[in-house]
Amino acid sequence: MPALPHTSREVRLASLPDGLPRPEHFEIVETPLPVPEEGQVLVRNRFFHVFAALRTLIGGSVKGAPFPPLLPGDTLFGAAIGEVVSAPADSGLRPGELVSHWLGWREYAAVAQYTRLGDTLPDPVAHLAQGWTAYAALTQGAEVRPGDTVFVSGGAGAVGSLAGQIARLLGAGQVIGSTGSPEKAERLVSELGYDAAVIRGAEPIGEQLAKIAPDGIDVLLDNVGGEQLQAAVAAARHGARFVLVGALSGQMSAHGTGTTAPVELDTYQLILKGIAMRGFSAPDDARARTQWTERFGGWLRSGEITFPHVRVSGIEQAPQALHEMIGGRHLGAVIVEL
Ligand SMILES: NC(=O)c1ccc[n+]([C@@H]2O[C@H](COP(=O)([O-])OP(=O)(O)OC[C@H]3O[C@@H](n4cnc5c(N)ncnc54)[C@H](OP(=O)(O)O)[C@@H]3O)[C@@H](O)[C@H]2O)c1
Repeated sequence: MPALPHTSREVRLASLPDGLPRPEHFEIVETPLPVPEEGQVLVRNRFFHVFAALRTLIGGSVKGAPFPPLLPGDTLFGAAIGEVVSAPADSGLRPGELVSHWLGWREYAAVAQYTRLGDTLPDPVAHLAQGWTAYAALTQGAEVRPGDTVFVSGGAGAVGSLAGQIARLLGAGQVIGSTGSPEKAERLVSELGYDAAVIRGAEPIGEQLAKIAPDGIDVLLDNVGGEQLQAAVAAARHGARFVLVGALSGQMSAHGTGTTAPVELDTYQLILKGIAMRGFSAPDDARARTQWTERFGGWLRSGEITFPHVRVSGIEQAPQALHEMIGGRHLGAVIVEL
């Protein structure tokens, strides 16, 4: 094994943005290589996920959210895949083995909580896919049935780019996604299993949806909230099931802190249409994760699903990758490869 370096680089929040974070709000800092404490595993990170909720955590927090806020001087974090460098003798881990953990945004980490990857998925980077959330929301949250018309708001993102494909595999009759540009709308249909796409910022989403699904929708998987949730209420069929997993309309707003996502809904419509609406947090259901990983592995191997993602190389590119993810430049998950 090559000699270990004495230092490791990590991305820290340098200052609080007024509005959306930009690369100048971060700094790459060189620190001494972490020394694992008792029970910890030293890993060299190979990949980490640039996730949407970072926008909310930078300087802010949402009551009840599972993550702490990030303040100036803090090192960013997020889901990562690391290669074991050294591990306690009783851990059973071997050097070179891959584990997933939450201390991304740094080259080396000493981790106490980790998951061994095994070979359920054909490519280790696929363990960073957000399909778990989509799968749990569609199966346990909305209980998609064969023939359903499913609308996925935020259909091109880390969650949405898998949600459309999963809805199709679960037997949905028509799958519609929303995204931010005509180019991405085209890719939703040609690459991600969507039948049609609506575009935010173009004509009102409600009008676009009414043209594509004149008979209405049965299921909403909502990553966005705001106007898109209003449009879904207007388009809902009687007995529609809505599952809310994200709030990109508030989270990615250039105004404010991204920590709230208020929306005005016509509750008469909820009542008269018997719409069931529930919030859903994937970590609430650990069983869904095991089931998802097994099914995802099978679907990837059979070619029935893809893991849409872009890989950005080098830790120094990570702040720019976050900026581009927020700006909607990419399709699928944004992964930094080290
Ligand atoms: N409940 C859970 O367990 C759970 C788990 C994971 C994620 N989430 C949440 O689910 C949501 C989606 O997550 P993700 O990882 O898939 O994020 P994401 O969609 O990859 O986030 C980036 C995308 O947000 C869109 N966007 C940017 N500005 C926007 C705006 N003003 N309004 C609407 N959309 C905008 C852009 O897509 P377009 O250009 O295509 O519009 C951009 O590519 C997030 O709110 C996230 O926090 C929840």
